[in-house]
Amino acid sequence: MAILATGGAGFIGSHTCLELLNAGYEVVVIDSLVNSSEESLRRVQELTGKTLRFYKGDTRDAALLDTIFTENEIEAVVHFAALKSVPESVKMPLEYYDNNLTGTIELLKAMRRNGCKKIVFSSSATVYGAENKCPFTEDMQTGTTTNPYGTTKLQIERIMTDTAAAEPDWHVVLLRYFNPIGAHASGRIGEAPGYPNNLMPYITQVAVGKREKLTVFGNNYPTPDGTGVRDYIHVVDLAKGHVKAIAFVLDHAGTEIFNLGTGNGTSVLELIHAFEEVTGVTVPYEIGPARAGDVAYSYANADKAKRVLGWQAELDVRQMCRDAWNWQKNNPNGYE
Ligand code: NAD
Ligand code: UFG
Repeated sequence: MAILATGGAGFIGSHTCLELLNAGYEVVVIDSLVNSSEESLRRVQELTGKTLRFYKGDTRDAALLDTIFTENEIEAVVHFAALKSVPESVKMPLEYYDNNLTGTIELLKAMRRNGCKKIVFSSSATVYGAENKCPFTEDMQTGTTTNPYGTTKLQIERIMTDTAAAEPDWHVVLLRYFNPIGAHASGRIGEAPGYPNNLMPYITQVAVGKREKLTVFGNNYPTPDGTGVRDYIHVVDLAKGHVKAIAFVLDHAGTEIFNLGTGNGTSVLELIHAFEEVTGVTVPYEIGPARAGDVAYSYANADKAKRVLGWQAELDVRQMCRDAWNWQKNNPNGYE
């Protein structure tokens, strides 16, 4: 019996495949490589000494999905595959809705056709919107999203919840990630964006000399130092959370939601300074205007995952900085 990871070659997917293999699961991956490289999977196999099965293709390809379900005994699916750039989604909403929504609907239909109704989904803290107050708890009403990417996450949560309500033999786990950063301790797998939209890959690209300086998006937020506060979570902790979520989804019908965060907030300036301290590298920055759609605070109440899944984050922000830097300096051009 195997776990199918859609988007398994990506940043979070590759780290999760590694943890699933180490936990003894067989792993099958479908990835279109639209935002990743097969090299990540080669390295996952090298690091674990185990093999996984890779299909290059799109989750909107119903025939390919049927082939995968026929050729493998898939017990459950972890659904990472999505386009994830907030600014790109504002420019290309149709492509985002098609890739993320159609890709999910085709996947769910293929799962049903093939008798596999257990799924763990990569959702985001963005579904809490600006209306809710931190720390976010899973029972809060979801908020208003500010971009097409975030809207796809909200809509997919709804599609899966409705499906599980209509057909009680579905097992659905919605994982709301906070801000995943860092990399595997080996420095062999990590986050490899072209142009970085997110804070940590921007910091590491400035530190390695690929960008001149970082722009801090606003310092007038109602936070202690005026910069945005986020719940950064080490990608290895996040990956281990998926192993717990898979174990849970195998024998729990219905829909269950879990925040995957640390419960701690860190400001932009605190993250820059932590990075400088642990690496000894200076990160030049300037203060710029606030970025549209950003909230002042986003951090989790992570109690439910601890109570129900027996999972909690273990690595702190300093370790996240150390590992992000170790990956960046050993792989200045990602997987190229
Ligand atoms: P990523 O881009 O590194 O990984 C996504 C993978 O999916 C890529 O390998 C890409 O090639 C693949 N893919 C995209 N569309 C596909 C399709 N239609 N068919 C097959 N493969 C496809 O991103 P990531 O950071 O690893 O994120 C994984 C998931 O977690 C995504 O769903 C993302 O929206 C979600 N998420 C990420 C963050 C974050 O900050 N990284 C936060 C919250 C949620
Ligand atoms: N920031 C900067 N400069 C940069 C990049 C980011 O100051 O160059 C700031 C942002 O304003 C924010 C913080 O750093 O205060 C974190 O920004 P990120 O872009 O790293 O992360 P976000 O919290 O904006 O977004 C993340 C995911 C999204 C998800 C969202 C949900 O990347 O996929 O969380 O809250 F939708």
